[in-house]
This record gives sequence, C-alpha cells and structure tokens, in this order.
Amino acid sequence: MILVTGGAGFIGSHLVADLVASGQAARVFDDLSSGKRENLAGLRGVELVEASLVDAAALERACAGVTTIYHLAACPSVPKSFDEPAFCHAVNATGTLHVAMAAARAKVRRVVFASSCAIYGNTGDVAVAETRPPQPKSPYAAQKLLGEHYLNDYGAAHGFTTVSLRFFNVFGPRQDPSSPYSGVISIFCERLLRGEAITIHGDGRQTRDFVAVADVVQALRLAAKEPGVVHGSVWNVATGRSRTLLELHAALAALVGGAPPPCHGPARAGDIVRSAADITAIQTNLGYRPRVGFTDALASTLDWYRMRAAAVAQAVDKRGATPRSGGKA
Ligand SMILES: NC(=O)c1ccc[n+]([C@@H]2O[C@H](COP(=O)([O-])OP(=O)(O)OC[C@H]3O[C@@H](n4cnc5c(N)ncnc54)[C@H](O)[C@@H]3O)[C@@H](O)[C@H]2O)c1
Repeated sequence: MILVTGGAGFIGSHLVADLVASGQAARVFDDLSSGKRENLAGLRGVELVEASLVDAAALERACAGVTTIYHLAACPSVPKSFDEPAFCHAVNATGTLHVAMAAARAKVRRVVFASSCAIYGNTGDVAVAETRPPQPKSPYAAQKLLGEHYLNDYGAAHGFTTVSLRFFNVFGPRQDPSSPYSGVISIFCERLLRGEAITIHGDGRQTRDFVAVADVVQALRLAAKEPGVVHGSVWNVATGRSRTLLELHAALAALVGGAPPPCHGPARAGDIVRSAADITAIQTNLGYRPRVGFTDALASTLDWYRMRAAAVAQAVDKRGATPRSGGKA
C-alpha cells in the first residue's frame, strides 16, 4: 500500500491520479485544510483518511501495511509561516517527525519528502546545486530543512530510505488561487481571466524556476521506485530555466490576448529575490527529464481556470434561477 500525505491537495492529487492510472491503490492522509475531496473525485481505489499530521497516533494507524510514503502534507506558505510560525512548525516540522516515527514503526521501505527550494535562500543568478549550504530565510524554509533531517535520521536508525525532493515553483491545474498564500501563477491566471489588474510584490525582476506539476509527479514516481537510491538523497525538481515575474506576466498576457502592465507593491518579508536550479543531479541519478513546455503548460493551466470560472458562474446562475422554497409571500 502507498500512503500519500497531502494527497487531496494540488500536487498530491496529481500524484494520486498518476498512481491510480498505473493501477496502484493509494491511501490519502489529509486534513482537508487546503486540500479538497473533489480533487480525488472519480479516482478508483483511493482511501481517504481525514486526519492531521499533528495526530501521531492517526498517522501510525494510517501507515499499517504501507511500503512507500509520499509525504506532501504541509502548511506550504512562506508568508503564513511568518504570520503563524508555531502552527506551521507543528504541521511542517513536528508533523514530519510524526511521519518519520510512523514510518519506522510500520517498517516502511521508502519515504519521499516534498521539500522546497526555499531552503537555499537567495541564490543570486547562479543555478543552485544540492551541495550548496542551506540558508533558510523563513520559518517555512527552516521547517522543511528540519523535516529533511528528521526523515534522514530516523531512516538511518530504522532502515528506511528517504529521498527529499526540493521543488521549485510548481504550477498547473487545481492550484488554489483563493488564498493569499497561493502560488503566483494561480493568482495571475485568475486575475487575468477576470480582467483584473495584477500587483507584483517588488519590481517584478525576481526570478523563479516554474515547473509543471506533471514533471513534479514524474520526479516523485522516479524517487519512489528507483532501486539504487542512496538514503538521504536530496534532489532539485525544476526545469533548469528561470524566468522573471515580468516575463511570466507577459507570457500569460499574450495567452489571454493582452493585459495592462502590472502594478507594483512592496516586496514581502522572506521572499526570495533570485531562484535558479541546477537539475544535473536528478537527471543523472533518476533519469528525470522535464517534458512539459512552459507555454503549453501555462496554456493548459489557463484552460483549467477558465473551466473553473465557467463552472462557478453556472452554479451561481442556477442558484439565482431556483425559486426559494419555504419563503412567505
Ligand atoms: N506548490 C509549490 O510550488 C511547492 C514548492 C515547494 C514545495 N512544495 C511542497 O509540496 C507539498 C504540496 O504542496 P501543494 O502546493 O500541493 O499545496 P496544497 O496546499 O495544495 O497541499 C497540501 C496538502 O496538505 C494538506 N494538509 C495541510 N496541513 C495538514 C495537516 N496538518 N495534516 C494533514 N494534511 C494537511 C492540505 O489539506 C493539502 O491537501 C507541500 O509540502 C509543499 O510545501 C510546494
């Protein structure tokens, strides 16, 4: 049995869909705080355990019969980790310790951990390799680094292999734009489709390596199945090509047929200015190859937000058209 923590979330639900498509059963452990049941709708053979990482006993029960854990559940936001540091620590750091403890008890074979490029801090324009000493600039980044250590230490002591994948900026369908903590592409897509102005925090020259969610799923699956993986391996998951937020805005504006230039607001605390990835190690060790072109992935992401907006409008129309029952004339 495979356990996916955070399997009802954005990346997790794409992973679960891929597992199901290849004939595997999956157990999802998720408290549905940002994940959604509907992200798993129509997927056969998926069991949902609705519980929190802070509940060590629930995690231990969910690990019964599990051979592989994909650990993706988290409070995945830099700003939120400043706003609510103790809460985020309980989920991201202590929660990951609970995953390590449960994996040890259940004699799990491998844990693949969704870590983050935030661990590197500001890297300048140099593509950062995994050998670079971590310089976390936010509680979120520090919690992810601690999570890597907990899993490595527990794995070494109890005989399971851990792989930490440091995701760069992931995007694609089902990324929720409704929270102030959401990824930039989901927010830009939704605002551009509504014809609303875009505000960029800072001058827009900050760079990101935007990686399509399908490529992240590719990396996760390879990390779980490659037999010769060395315990404690850490690999970047990205495309190897960074873009500025201004470039991103221009690419999306072109896809929607034009948009006014973005406005600019103050930079946010803990935001990384430059982010660039060296992906040689994961290419060499796992045979990972980014397959999805940036513009194609942006276009299919935009399509998904269009469909979502249409479904919401239809639901509102229906509610408006339905006569209220039980009301007095
Ligand atoms: N999206 C990115 O660009 C990105 C970049 C780097 C790392 N990551 C990491 O990838 C993972 C998945 O991120 P995502 O973008 O899919 O976010 P998401 O918010 O869509 O998914 C997180 C999932 O974890 C669940 N969750 C949160 N707290 C929980 C708790 N206490 N117990 C159980 N479940 C809980 C949520 O309900 C959600 O389903 C996270 O660990 C995140 O830190 C994401």
